[in-house]
Amino acid sequence: MDEEFISSMKKWSDEILESYHRSLDMLRENADAHSLAEWKDQLDQFQSELKEADSLDYTDLYVRANEIHRQFEQYFAVGTENEMLRAQTYSSSVPIGEHSLPPLPYPYDALEPFINQEIMRLHHDKHHKGYVDGLNKAEKEMQKARMTNQFDLLKHWEREAAFHGAGHYLHTIFWNNMSPKGGGQPSGMLLNEINQSFGSFEKFKQHFSAAANNVEAVGWAVLVWSPRSRRLEILQAEKHQNLSQWDVVPLLVLDVWEHAYYLQYKNDRKKYVENWWKIVNWRDVENRFHEAQKLKWQPF
Ligand SMILES: [Fe+2]
Repeated sequence: MDEEFISSMKKWSDEILESYHRSLDMLRENADAHSLAEWKDQLDQFQSELKEADSLDYTDLYVRANEIHRQFEQYFAVGTENEMLRAQTYSSSVPIGEHSLPPLPYPYDALEPFINQEIMRLHHDKHHKGYVDGLNKAEKEMQKARMTNQFDLLKHWEREAAFHGAGHYLHTIFWNNMSPKGGGQPSGMLLNEINQSFGSFEKFKQHFSAAANNVEAVGWAVLVWSPRSRRLEILQAEKHQNLSQWDVVPLLVLDVWEHAYYLQYKNDRKKYVENWWKIVNWRDVENRFHEAQKLKWQPF
């Protein structure tokens, strides 16, 4: 198993344990002792398994880590008055110019043979990191412009914020949209809605693939839920931000920039797109759909 992945999981579980101890008194007030003890057992078990890293399934580890995290957040949410503590433990917003590169939710080689390790390292560590840095710089420059009332260069920084911001947010979705255990097709409400919106899953897949294959130059294919039309739609984004609809929530995104496939597939984007379907993490897309559906605007 990838050592970096294991050490990031260890670091994460140490941090969450530290938060637990720091806020134990408050947690006791908000959650019953039994479920807190159960949660602590789960985390202890998780940490002890991390020591036998060789025999573990990383996707399973990631899913469990997410579940532990979700439960922990729930304990904080129950009747919590102490917003300061919550804010310190899980800050609810990213301060201006302080975005950070999210870790990959699996090792670099986890998506092989469909996307190789070399691409994933370059794509995540260099390209995505570049968008994070670019966004931070643009946000700070815009903040500076607001403070000094000097908006001469605003057009440039707005452009930079859109380009790097869209790049950062889309890549953050993209990593989780894929999984070594992906492929197949969605189920439940998402499948129903796909059938409603596109006729069938096959039709949707054809449409989405055609959108990806035909993005002019570089960009993305994006499945969106429109809270206003209450329908799914497939869009193309040129570069990251051109042609984007902003009043929508991306659910499933496919990176068709050359850096995402060229080292392995050369100019055969079609093959990459075709293989990509084998690693789609539909559980993640379903979760995003579930959350996105809570958004509703007046229909026009
Ligand atoms: Fe990319």
